[in-house]
This record gives sequence, structure tokens and C-alpha cells, in this order.
Amino acid sequence: MTNVIDLRSDTVSKPSDAMRQAMATAEVGDDVFGDDPTVNRLEARAAEMTGKEAALYVPSGTMGNLIAVLTHTKPGDEILLGDQSHIFQYELGGAARLAGVITRTLTNRPDGTLDTGEIRAAARTENLHSPGSKLLCIENTHNRCGGAALPLDAMDELTSTAHSLGMAVHLDGARVFNSGAALNVPVSRVARHCDSVSFCLSKGLGCPVGSVLCGSKQFIESARRNRKMLGGGMRQVGILAAAGLFALEHNVARLSEDHANAAMLADGLRELGAFRPNTPQTNIVVADVIRGDVDDWLRSFAAAGVLAVGFGPQRMRLVTHINISRTDVDEALRRIQGAVGAVAV
Ligand SMILES: Cc1ncc(COP(=O)(O)O)c(C=O)c1O
Repeated sequence: MTNVIDLRSDTVSKPSDAMRQAMATAEVGDDVFGDDPTVNRLEARAAEMTGKEAALYVPSGTMGNLIAVLTHTKPGDEILLGDQSHIFQYELGGAARLAGVITRTLTNRPDGTLDTGEIRAAARTENLHSPGSKLLCIENTHNRCGGAALPLDAMDELTSTAHSLGMAVHLDGARVFNSGAALNVPVSRVARHCDSVSFCLSKGLGCPVGSVLCGSKQFIESARRNRKMLGGGMRQVGILAAAGLFALEHNVARLSEDHANAAMLADGLRELGAFRPNTPQTNIVVADVIRGDVDDWLRSFAAAGVLAVGFGPQRMRLVTHINISRTDVDEALRRIQGAVGAVAV
């Protein structure tokens, strides 16, 4: 197989030559002392783009979410979050284990939102018997809900409900730039009423590593201490932050190409009769398998040179990203069609 078309995730992209050049020439210093000018520039730019006062560069989205939970809560508090959220599904219970909070899940609707009536019913006031619900975590775009970009009015309703109940709101915005692109608004609008937002540079933005957590000055000061506690204080890390600055400048405007490619991929898959894909709003195609077995399909796709991942029983996920062109999507569909044809014969 000459070139494998890797649609497993938008995390598989490789840094471009231009990004590597920016990294190689980055000015650096010891970031734990606050001396790294490139990190400081990245944090200032991230704060500006998300409309927050301050920001903190962190190694991963998982650490960004955990630091947010640690910073918004104290052990024994309760957080409310979607049952399909990344924090609940894929972060190994870190919020419970390391922040010591009760993680209470509410049902995510297919569009990634939560029912504000359920939030009101679930929220608890701290007293002699009960923990207090202190934080609502939302995710936008929503990975397990097929890359859904949460509507702005839903975001506003969720944040105002949480605030009226005395809860802060953290937005897991690992792919919030995809949301901004899909809704055609700046990320600062998407995150406007959220108390904190984390986003990943290592996903659609094409960096090798890194996420940023943004919030008020005071929040970020405490978050910086929590990052240090978790061992996330890094030294001459401007070499990595330079990739982030490069991505924020060059790789945001192109995200809508990934969205168009995902739509084309979903349309092509739908025509094959074996899969029922979502209608992607962003770069994530989630397809139910309606003929055959998901693991068999994934194996035959891989044999044909297309990589995707299982995403629950009889469901697969395919993600477009910066290293996938329209031609790659055409070629992936041609290879998948071949695999489906071989089974049908
Ligand atoms: C919605 C969401 N949040 C958080 C993360 C965690 O990011 P990381 O892999 O950098 O820890 C991911 C990773 O896929 C994600 O999809």
C-alpha cells in the first residue's frame, strides 16, 4: 500500500515544514519561571481569541479539563456533565480520582446539548447532608455526538441556567475552533458566557502537542498552581508553543475545508448501503453499520488502506483533518467502495 489514508482522528496529523521551522527558531526560556516569551505570546493570543483575561499552556486536553475541574471545585463537590462527554467517557475518572469530585452525568441529546430542566432538577445546594453542585461541564464541538457544534442559543441557555444555580461552567472546547467555523462566529462568541474554556492545538489545528486553558486572571493563577501540582510545569517549552502560535495564525481559517470533506465522505458512505452516517456539521463522521460487523469492516478498510476507529457497538468514526485533501476523500471512498463490493460478491 503506498499511502494509507488515516481517518482515525484529527490527532494523527503531522506538523508541516513551515510549522517545524517556526518551532526550530522559537525564542525560549524557563516557563515555570514565566520566562518563555513564546509561551507568553501563545497564552496572550489564546486569551484574546477566546475572549478571556488569561490563559495557560498545558500538555494535553485531558490535563486542561482536569485542571479546570480542580480549579473550579474542592474535594467532595459535585460536577454535572454529559454522559457522552469526553471527561466522563475517556479521561479515566480523573475528575473523581484526582480532583475528588462526584461526577454526575446527565443525558446528552444527539446535538450535544443537555436539558436545562434536568440540570435544574439535578443541581444540589451544599448542606449538612448533600454535596453542592459547583460546576457544569459542556463540550463543543461534541465528539461522541458526531462533531456537533452546539447552537449558540443552547450555549447561552446552558450557561445562564448553571449560573443561576450557583455553578461555574467549563467548556471542553477541544475542537471549539471547529465550532466557530461551523457557526461562522469567533470562538470568543462560542465561549462568551463560559467561565473557562480549554482547546486543543493538537487536533484540527495540526500541532504535535498542546492545549490551552483560558479563563479569568484569578482562575488562571490557581490553574497554574494546579498544573504544577500535576507535573505539567514545563521548561523551554516555547519550542512547542511556537507550533501553537503558528497554528492559530495559519490553520484556523482552513477548518471549513475539513468540514466540507467530512460532508463529502458521509455522502459517499451513505450511498454504499452498508452504513448510516450522520450529517456532519464539522469534521467528524460517525457511521452506524447496518450491514455486516463493524470490526470486520474496519479490518477490510485497513486492508484497503483506509484507517477508521470503532466508536461503540456497530458504529465507526472517521475524522477529516489538515493532512486529508479532497482527493484523499475521493480515494478513501473508492477504496471503501472496493471493500464493500468485495463483501457483496
Ligand atoms: C472533546 C475532547 N476533549 C478532550 C480531549 C483530550 O485531549 P488529549 O488527547 O489532548 O488529552 C479529546 C481528545 O480526543 C476530545 O476529543
